[in-house]
Amino acid sequence: MKTAPPHTGHPTWDGPEHRYFVLRTGDGSPTVAHARPGASVPGEPMHSSMGAWAETDYVYGHALRFALERGWPRRLLVVGLGLGYVEARAAAIWAADTGGTPPRGTGAHPRGATDTCILSFESDLFLREALPRWLADPTHTRVPEALRATYADVFAREGAAAAGQLRAFLASGAWRLVDALHERALTAETQHSVAFGAAAAGDPADTQQKVAFTVIAFDAYSGNTSPDLWDEAFLGRFLDRFAAPECVLATYAFKGALRRALESRGFTVERRPGFGAKRECTLAWRVGGA
Ligand SMILES: C[S@@+](CC[C@H](N)C(=O)[O-])C[C@H]1O[C@@H](n2cnc3c(N)ncnc32)[C@H](O)[C@@H]1O
Repeated sequence: MKTAPPHTGHPTWDGPEHRYFVLRTGDGSPTVAHARPGASVPGEPMHSSMGAWAETDYVYGHALRFALERGWPRRLLVVGLGLGYVEARAAAIWAADTGGTPPRGTGAHPRGATDTCILSFESDLFLREALPRWLADPTHTRVPEALRATYADVFAREGAAAAGQLRAFLASGAWRLVDALHERALTAETQHSVAFGAAAAGDPADTQQKVAFTVIAFDAYSGNTSPDLWDEAFLGRFLDRFAAPECVLATYAFKGALRRALESRGFTVERRPGFGAKRECTLAWRVGGA
């Protein structure tokens, strides 16, 4: 994969389907914008220009801490892996919580091999493969130099423990990266109903269960770019499939369709002040079962 010449002063590289631009955000952390092959200007950036890391912590770190404070199992679903900021944040928050309350076993959350797991949806095959490659080998030649530097920058903010945790989750199967979230992903038995990780072999009950998630980080592109993902009926089916009885969902935006889908499933929905230029964002939780 060859690194494209810079067109805008930003580092870029070319993947099979996109040109990628690395942009610096307000807190110094990097973000990436997809663009068409050969484009000279970036498309929609993945994060707020005010701070990619700070936005991740404000929106998704908040939800991760909400679940941790309640002792819920660490079952994180991310829609939109991107650069992996949310997964890195989760690994760092969990790693720092060694003195915290261990996940409790309840009717809502039976203890098992899936007490800690991450499922990341990412439609971009190139990004989906690049982060595991880089975690395995930061000099991997199939990860373009500009992206290697970008990952190094993302993970430098989280400490070595976060990268180590994610590497271990990949090795054990506790972190799975899968293709785009769309209608078929809600029903496909093969991809998402199987147990997470080799550890599940010791816990046959877990191999049968469909994993439901206690933290959902809904970090897809906006409704302009991905309208299907913000449709109320789709969101309802998504929650039915993936939200655990006790669950917190966060996203960087506040949308009526999402609020209605959440409230109809027993979630309390909070309109938080948005990060950066966003007026509002969403934190929604369902505590004590549906
Ligand atoms: C806002 S960015 C996510 C940023 C990311 N969470 C991070 O920490 O860097 C949105 C991501 O969603 C991906 N995406 C777009 N449509 C998708 C879909 N239907 N399912 C899963 N991912 C999708 C894009 O390729 C992009 O990487």
